[in-house]
Amino acid sequence: MTTRNPFVAGNWKMNGDIVTNEHLFTALRAALERVSIAQVEVAICPPYPYLGQAGAWLNDTGIAWGAQNVAEAPNGALTGEVSVSMLLDLGCRWTIVGHSERRTLLGETDETVARKVSMCVGGGLGVIACVGESLDEREGGRTEAVLARQVAAIAPALREADPARVVLAYEPVWAIGTGRTASPEMAQQAHAFIRARLLEAGVGGASQMRIVYGGSVKPSNAVSLFEMPDVDGGLIGGASLVAEDFLNICRAAAVA
Ligand code: 13P
Repeated sequence: MTTRNPFVAGNWKMNGDIVTNEHLFTALRAALERVSIAQVEVAICPPYPYLGQAGAWLNDTGIAWGAQNVAEAPNGALTGEVSVSMLLDLGCRWTIVGHSERRTLLGETDETVARKVSMCVGGGLGVIACVGESLDEREGGRTEAVLARQVAAIAPALREADPARVVLAYEPVWAIGTGRTASPEMAQQAHAFIRARLLEAGVGGASQMRIVYGGSVKPSNAVSLFEMPDVDGGLIGGASLVAEDFLNICRAAAVA
């Protein structure tokens, strides 16, 4: 039996400003004193401009910080892009890649996501790689085909990766920001499928990689999701903007 430490990350998306972030960090630090989450690996992913601020506030807390995206090239003439080495320079331990909002609204393809994953693995930055089906795909019975395609694209980049630095996030698009959560059984089925596909694709470390669930996770549904054997934590959107809710979700990961 493989033990995987739970992993919970907050994806702030394009929210926040210096003043409101400061309130959130202050509340997070205060809540951290009441909530024991020692065995859970926790990360906060604010927008790029606030990574320095996150570092200043989280430095001594045990909570890591990371980005929401990264460039697929190491450096050079790519106006507006931010590289793996820049994120490492800012103390980031993680970056999210392939979030469905970037895939659907900003044109990221499976190939783009694979190049970004590869850049992170090669550069020593932890990667939270997102996969997940749309409502149409689920209702059309294509969930497994979509997950298989998305996993197949990134698997080659994961073969040589340190499993402790790789997190897969299963985020069904229909559950993101909708209040509609996948049932624990649906999440378990998808996570087990993702892990099996990784193993079949030659990702030997897949049994040690965390697979977390994202999509309307709240303190009230977190325990039932995290109790599932292949659900190793969560990627949290809206609820990560409320310190007490976010830390209660982390605590759910600690007890589940
Ligand atoms: P919500 O938790 O707001 O549904 O967002 C999930 C998500 O997209 C995290 O990356």
